[in-house]
Amino acid sequence: MTGLLQLLRFTGAGRVTLFMMNCAVLLLLTSSCLTWAAVVYTPNRAASKLKYLLDPPVYAEVVGRRGDNVTLPCILRVKPSHYKVKWTKLEPERVGLENIIMISNAHAFKPYGHLGPRASLRKAHAMDASLQLSHLKLEDDGTYRCELINGIEDESVVITLSIEGVVFPYQSKNGRYRFTFHEAREACAEQDGMLATYTQLYRAWTEGLDWCNAGWLQDGTVHYPIIHPRPVCGAELVSGIRSYGPKDKHRDRFDAFCFTSQTPGSVFYISGSFSFDQAGHACEGQRAELALVGQLYSAWHFHSYDQCDGGWLKDGSVRFPISNPRERCGGIPEAGVRSFGFPNKMVHLYGAYCYR
Ligand SMILES: *[C@@H]1O[C@H](CO)[C@@H](O)[C@H](O)[C@H]1NC(C)=O
Repeated sequence: MTGLLQLLRFTGAGRVTLFMMNCAVLLLLTSSCLTWAAVVYTPNRAASKLKYLLDPPVYAEVVGRRGDNVTLPCILRVKPSHYKVKWTKLEPERVGLENIIMISNAHAFKPYGHLGPRASLRKAHAMDASLQLSHLKLEDDGTYRCELINGIEDESVVITLSIEGVVFPYQSKNGRYRFTFHEAREACAEQDGMLATYTQLYRAWTEGLDWCNAGWLQDGTVHYPIIHPRPVCGAELVSGIRSYGPKDKHRDRFDAFCFTSQTPGSVFYISGSFSFDQAGHACEGQRAELALVGQLYSAWHFHSYDQCDGGWLKDGSVRFPISNPRERCGGIPEAGVRSFGFPNKMVHLYGAYCYR
């Protein structure tokens, strides 16, 4: 088993923390608590023989939704007489040279940086150095390092935290390919999301995202995911993620791939033939606001929201979510959120999608 890391993904349950403890025991006996499991080879791993820390034995990935609390496991095998534990976030965004979350010794605990206030050590037992993160945010997605510092000896394990969510393509109301990188990042934030990582886009592609317009990702690269190869969407005849590689963040213009996760509130539809302003008032009448695009995608992804009626959203676009594709609702065989683009705000044609 050296050099072999099992990478397991828990889906469906946001309660990864509780899940972990129960599953860890059950895992060897049954696979019933897993939706799927994959084995990933990490070649560099074989070289490191850890003395103090337990190599993540069963999983090196923890999954949680926005708002959840999760625990990133780090367990000592041997307890040195003097040591410190340092938790650091490695990816995707580095703040300064090191993005330290906390340093602790047997007695004290010091939080650092923007993650510090939401971090704590689980300390379930004497050998437990696992990190708890509360109220997960989209930007918490990434890899984390648990480092045991023991004089000059120093060893670490790396755990991936994946935020469970949905990727959505987003285009400017002014048309295709209008966003610089920074505008794309802002556009996603305005729709309750953030620019997707390559990993998130890749996962969305495996789940069926097929989009023939290139969009910015968080690392400044530009890609688009294709399930059904067709001549207008690139020359290649296989499905896959098409890459334009890194682009000029200030000069080049594309669409955006945004990522969002679960929301604290919910989306509902008010039927009517509203102009954009009337739709906004209809939502206010229900102590709500017009929904953001990310909120509609979240409802579609997490609650299988299905409504065969175009409705206004806060950005001035008209969309509707389809979970059970049928002929009368757009006729596209795949589930998805359909868009009518950005119609004239004065037309009295659509209902309203509200968020509360
Ligand atoms: C997460 O942890 C905080 C305390 O850090 C607690 O107040 C909150 O209820 C927890 N949330 C969930 C969803 O378990």
